[in-house]
Amino acid sequence: MGEDLNFMGSPRYIIEAKNLRKTFGEFVAVDDVSFHLLQGECLGLLGPNGAGKTSTIRMVYGFSPMTDGSLHLFGLDMKTEWRAIRFSIGVCQQENTPDPDLTVLQNLQVFASYFDMPRRAAKEKALQLLQYMALDHRRNDTVTSLSGGMLRRLILARALLNDPELLILDEPTTALDPQSRHQVWERLEELRSEGLSILLTTHNMDEASRLCDRLIIMDHGKILVQGKPSALIREYAGRDVVEITEPDQELRDFVQSQQFMHDDLGHRLIIYGQADDRVFERIGSRFCREKCIQRMATLEDVFLRLTGRELRE
Ligand SMILES: Nc1ncnc2c1ncn2[C@@H]1O[C@H](COP(=O)(O)OP(=O)(O)O)[C@@H](O)[C@H]1O
Ligand SMILES: [Mg+2]
Repeated sequence: MGEDLNFMGSPRYIIEAKNLRKTFGEFVAVDDVSFHLLQGECLGLLGPNGAGKTSTIRMVYGFSPMTDGSLHLFGLDMKTEWRAIRFSIGVCQQENTPDPDLTVLQNLQVFASYFDMPRRAAKEKALQLLQYMALDHRRNDTVTSLSGGMLRRLILARALLNDPELLILDEPTTALDPQSRHQVWERLEELRSEGLSILLTTHNMDEASRLCDRLIIMDHGKILVQGKPSALIREYAGRDVVEITEPDQELRDFVQSQQFMHDDLGHRLIIYGQADDRVFERIGSRFCREKCIQRMATLEDVFLRLTGRELRE
């Protein structure tokens, strides 16, 4: 379904979002956000809690009206062609939303009816997806008896019922235990390698670097940067990092004089750079007396540098 929705114009984006804006009263949750997603790409919206990720993607999957801006999916205008678009997208919302009165299989069957799938085909597809998500053995159980990981897999199966061309996931693995998280990641990697386009939100750095071809880091409703995970790391955190606990004034002066990229957290100084330009060797021999850690730069460094290190509740 929806196959012929693609490539109706050029260049063809799966998602083209321009100047998206979402306000709640006076509050601006999404502030002039523009991005696109290419066919077969996995794009991640990365940001701390309250950044505006959910508000953004709820507009993309047609759940929440835009305050301003324009959105095209498969080249179709969201405002006028939502009915056609919905047949080609699958959505996992941030919260799991199964029907608690129905069994695992019934949940899928009822959902399939929203897509006008014939009953037999729906059941066949549902059973196939339950097997794919390792839930086959629980198909006649009520959903209230499922663990968090199973429930998430059920919601993922539900999102795939209509063979979507675009899968939209809001924090697919938040609150899952490591086994369940990896199980979901493996399925998503498979789907991606089969060519499914994916838009997801996350604040999990492992998830972002493992699954996403490209990332948009956002905060306070705005896009801060976008790019490939490796390129973002190189640009905003270099390649290697040295962390020095309880830095003294001499070290601070040295770092200033050398104009190193760094963050001074008071009790800890973090210096970003490249190990092979001998910066760290010079620091090490002069200043690493107590605690000093050298490690590779990560996406987490980029994230914290751009969104701040203060506690957020
Ligand atoms: N329905 C709403 N009414 C008022 N404020 C909202 C509503 N939904 C979200 N917000 C606010 O918008 C901001 C962005 O929220 P959200 O998009 O859920 O962020 P994220 O998904 O990145 O954590 C937050 O400050 C949140 O409190
Ligand atoms: Mg959210």
